[in-house]
Amino acid sequence: MGRVLVVGSGGREHALATRFNQSPSVETVYIAPGSPCMDDVATLVDIDALDFEALKAFALKHAIDLVVVGPEIPLVQGIQDAFKDTNICVFGPSKYCANLEGSKAFAKEMMKQANIKTAGYETFDDVTQAIAYAKTKTYPLVLKASGLAAGKGVVIVNCFEDAESELHHMMTHNKFEDAGNVVVIEDFLEGEEFSYLCLVSHDTIIPLQVSQDHKRAFDHDEGPNTGGMGAYTPVDSITDDDLNCALNDVVKPIVSTLLNQGHPYTGVLYAGLMKTKDGIQVIEFNVRFGDPETEVLMLALESDLYQVIMDLMSGKKTELQWTKDYVIGAVLASQGYPDAYQKGAVIKGLETLKTPVFHMGTTRNDHGVIATGGRVLFVTARADTLQKAQAMLYQEIDKIDCDALFYRRDIGFHNS
Ligand code: AMP
Ligand code: GLY
Repeated sequence: MGRVLVVGSGGREHALATRFNQSPSVETVYIAPGSPCMDDVATLVDIDALDFEALKAFALKHAIDLVVVGPEIPLVQGIQDAFKDTNICVFGPSKYCANLEGSKAFAKEMMKQANIKTAGYETFDDVTQAIAYAKTKTYPLVLKASGLAAGKGVVIVNCFEDAESELHHMMTHNKFEDAGNVVVIEDFLEGEEFSYLCLVSHDTIIPLQVSQDHKRAFDHDEGPNTGGMGAYTPVDSITDDDLNCALNDVVKPIVSTLLNQGHPYTGVLYAGLMKTKDGIQVIEFNVRFGDPETEVLMLALESDLYQVIMDLMSGKKTELQWTKDYVIGAVLASQGYPDAYQKGAVIKGLETLKTPVFHMGTTRNDHGVIATGGRVLFVTARADTLQKAQAMLYQEIDKIDCDALFYRRDIGFHNS
């Protein structure tokens, strides 16, 4: 029987811990640090996700078999490398491979080497040169902070004047702190976006079912980019041909390029893809489970995730089983997110919901469940059609009483 440690504290980790907790082959699930409302599915461990030595000591003491790392920052800072001298399986990439997410400049360079289709681009560490380049371009144009910015470091500008002022914000005034010291300026692509997540170990690749995220804050894709405001799976507009292309022309080449460089990839490889009129192109790579895609994927997955990962890490590939239902979910976020927001609102009515809710940023005190994060809750629903699942989702959300939260009312509608 397996003993699992999930690292992180958001909705993605709550969903992973829930899935492991349901697994017949798992004895105990720990979550570090987790948050109070996750104590129904995992034992909370009061260790920070970046305190690798303390996590390692805990894992050794409690005979953990598998560590699953949720967020990107521990991966980019080298949590997998920190466990190298143990025989504990860490499902997450090495520090080197995590650069695929930690540095957009690195990701672009790897795609060039692997001959993968992605938007044309240039990389700059000098604002004057960046502005001079922006002057030569057609618009819209995409400006990306190269470093980690919690999904918010991409700005799409419609004219040169906006590009100039935004480049100053990013590169001179540190809008995204050090993440904007290097900026990638990318051609604008048009098409349907989808999230293609694969479980990877060396050259073995197991694709998950296709899902779609909604990155902008408000309905009709308006407002600033966020970490993601809702998700659903599967996505009918993405065909088997698209998925073959995603596997053969994107994921396989990047995994084998890293392997040939002496850096085998372990963990989730998340390709953010766009179906354009020129075929499938890469928007970004992430080196972890997506959030909130994982929340819907874990509800849709019927296979035993622990067994699948342990088999994969010993080179065995499993055919995954998925529900035939559509699974959908919406984020309830604090008013003001992704900018500054108030914390501390009491959330009422949660006990009346019939569908699973994952806690993205909450705590619990004598007043009940309290909002503490930018993204606070992820409410889900499932049904045999996307339309029915949507209707159920919004009925469930209506039962929650908290004026301090907002959510998008159009999750999945584009494809229904
Ligand atoms: P990223 O953090 O790189 O995924 O970018 C955030 C969002 O910005 C993406 O989900 C897209 O909606 C948008 N985006 C990023 N790059 C491009 C591009 N080259 N063309 C059009 N939209 C883009
Ligand atoms: N949902 C987007 C992400 O996880 O980066």
